[in-house]
Amino acid sequence: MGDQTALNTSLPRNMKQPPVGLDLPARLVAAVALMAIAACSGDSSTTPSAPDVDPTVAPPGATTVAAADPSVGEQHFNQNCAACHQMGGTGLVGLAPSIRNRDFLAIASDDFIRKTVHSGRAGTAMIPRPDLDYSKVSEIIAYLRALKVPNPVTVTVDHDWTASGDVARGGEHFAIFCADCHGPNGEGYVAGGSGPGIGTPGFLNVASDGYILATLQHGRLGTPMRPFIGPTGLANLTQEEVGDIIVWLRKKG
Ligand code: HEC
Ligand code: HEC
Repeated sequence: MGDQTALNTSLPRNMKQPPVGLDLPARLVAAVALMAIAACSGDSSTTPSAPDVDPTVAPPGATTVAAADPSVGEQHFNQNCAACHQMGGTGLVGLAPSIRNRDFLAIASDDFIRKTVHSGRAGTAMIPRPDLDYSKVSEIIAYLRALKVPNPVTVTVDHDWTASGDVARGGEHFAIFCADCHGPNGEGYVAGGSGPGIGTPGFLNVASDGYILATLQHGRLGTPMRPFIGPTGLANLTQEEVGDIIVWLRKKG
C-alpha cells in the first residue's frame, strides 16, 4: 500500500486527462507484420483450431505452471507475444498492455491468462491462440511469474463479489472518469486512448467483478492506469460508484 501513495497526485475529483497521443495504426501494422514473420519462423504453423476445448483443464501428461521451465516459456513468449507486448512483457501504451506489471501479475490468475490467450479479445489485436497448447501456455505463464517486478505486492481478489449499482449512474461516472482513456463504450485502443478494451465481451467474459474492483483499487504501477478508489485514489471513487460502473459495463448491451 505505502509505495502507492507516492504515485497519487491530488487531481480534482472530476479530473480529465487528455488521451496519450500515439501513432497507433503505424505501430499496429508493424507489430502485426512482425507477428506474421514470427508465426512463419516459429512454432505456430498450425492454424488456430479446437476453440471449444476448456483451456483451464490440463490434458493428461500436460506440464503445469509449477513444473514448467520459464526459459522455454521465454522463447514461446518472444516468438508469439513480444511483437505486441514487447520483449520482457513491458507493453506499449496504446498498443498492448503491460503484462510484466506487478499489479497485473498480482491480480490476474493463471486461468485468467490461459483464457485470454485461448480466446483472445475479439475486436482487438489480441487474437485467439487456441493452437498454443496447455503446456506451452504453462511455460509462458511460468516465464511471466518469474519476471522481476519492482516492489511486488500480493492482492487477494474476491472473485465471488458481485457488483450492484445503478446502470445510468455508472454510465455517467464512466463518461467522466474512464472514457478518455478506455473509449466512450470501453472499446479500448480503437477509440484512440491509452487504455485497453474493458467494455468488450472478450474482457468481460474472463474478468470477474472482483478483478475489475481490484484493478481500480491498485491501478497498474508504471502505466496511466492509476488507483481510483478511496482518498489516495486518483478520483476518490467509492466502492458504490465503482459498482455502478461495473454494472453499466456489463449491462450496456
Ligand atoms: C489516464 C488513462 C486511464 C484512465 C482515466 C482509466 N484507465 Fe483503466 N487503464 C488504463 C491503461 C493504460 C490500462 C492498461 C495498463 C497497461 O497498459 O498495462 C488500464 C487498465 C484497466 C483495466 C484492466 C484491463 C485488463 O485488460 O485487464 C481496468 C479494469 C480498467 N483499466 C478500468 C478503468 C476504469 C473503470 C476507469 C474509470 C474509473 C479507468 N480504468 C480509467 C488507462 C486509464
Ligand atoms: C498482435 C498483437 C498481440 C499479440 C501478438 C499478443 N497480444 Fe496479448 N494483447 C494485445 C492487446 C491489444 C491486448 C489488449 C486487448 C484489449 O484491448 O482488451 C492484449 C491483452 C493481453 C492480455 C490481457 C492483459 C490485461 O491487462 O488484462 C494478456 C494476458 C495477453 N494479452 C497475453 C498475451 C500472450 C501470452 C501472447 C502470446 C501468446 C499475446 N498476448 C500476444 C495484443 C497482442
